[in-house]
Amino acid sequence: MSEMEGKICLITGSNSGIGKATALGLAKKGATVVMACRNRERGEKALNEIKRKSGNDKIFLMIVDLSSQNSIHQFAKNFKKKFSRLHVLINNAGVHLFKREETVDGFEMNFAVNYLAPFLLTNLLLDTIKESTPARIINVSSRYHIYATLDFDDLQSKKSYRFSYRTGADAYCKSKLALTIFTYELAKRLDGTGVTVNCLCPGVVRTNLIKEKPPLPIRVLSNLFIHQKTSEEGAETSIYLASSPDVEGVTGKFFIDKKEVPRYQKCYDKRVAQHLWKISEKLTGLK
Ligand SMILES: NC(=O)c1ccc[n+]([C@@H]2O[C@H](COP(=O)([O-])OP(=O)(O)OC[C@H]3O[C@@H](n4cnc5c(N)ncnc54)[C@H](OP(=O)(O)O)[C@@H]3O)[C@@H](O)[C@H]2O)c1
Repeated sequence: MSEMEGKICLITGSNSGIGKATALGLAKKGATVVMACRNRERGEKALNEIKRKSGNDKIFLMIVDLSSQNSIHQFAKNFKKKFSRLHVLINNAGVHLFKREETVDGFEMNFAVNYLAPFLLTNLLLDTIKESTPARIINVSSRYHIYATLDFDDLQSKKSYRFSYRTGADAYCKSKLALTIFTYELAKRLDGTGVTVNCLCPGVVRTNLIKEKPPLPIRVLSNLFIHQKTSEEGAETSIYLASSPDVEGVTGKFFIDKKEVPRYQKCYDKRVAQHLWKISEKLTGLK
């Protein structure tokens, strides 16, 4: 029997890059894979490729726009109608925008897609996840979270939206810091339930994440000095956290290259974590 036979894995943003490679990796291990994508055409193309390459027919496509809270609610409802179990949730979808944009709900786009969406989706699916123990929640963060501070007076980056080629957009780093703090707080809240929660940085991976091309000299320098992984290499830690017996019961940790790394100091503050949780409940309308 294949390693992940009978396990239902939901992966957001799985039509492209790291998410697609994660879906393929888990499909090859025999998992039932639910691909949560925003565009049907791109989703179907990836689904067919994954079915063909893995020889696994248990691959499903469901549509969600993670920048819309309405769409997330609808998606969670539809998911529960279709599946009674969820063993692995991978919050993988993400954006990294050089310029400020707002969602239909009026939130800053990086913050909404990279943080608020995983917060809302995870909470909406938590009862199903708890009924599927042992279960795992995996949040695809970034080591760039260390460049951020959580300014609660400007979570939506209205006052300041800075971007640099070294550290990326402040708002991106902030969204990943929030996601990392959420991971640790949720792990604490779920301690002893059989649901583990971890996050990871995939490394620098050549994907579609950055839509605007940096100027030529920056591209040349980064190609020379920064090793860029393939999507398959970038997906290794997600697949490891989703399937390996080595991390059975391991929770509240940050992983890079399949290894646990020390938490960043800013993520330790309990009051910040609880305050962020309260604000996120308010922003998503969760009780
Ligand atoms: N690449 C890196 O170097 C790197 C480094 C650190 C962390 N990460 C993280 O890795 C994760 C995967 O990114 P990637 O590098 O694989 O980039 P990617 O190829 O652009 O994949 C991102 C995925 O997220 C989806 N997505 C974006 N906005 C969405 C929305 N509103 N609703 C639903 N889906 C949405 C995209 O869908 P579309 O195809 O329809 O746009 C795509 O499937 C992200 O969380 C990213 O922050 C990447």
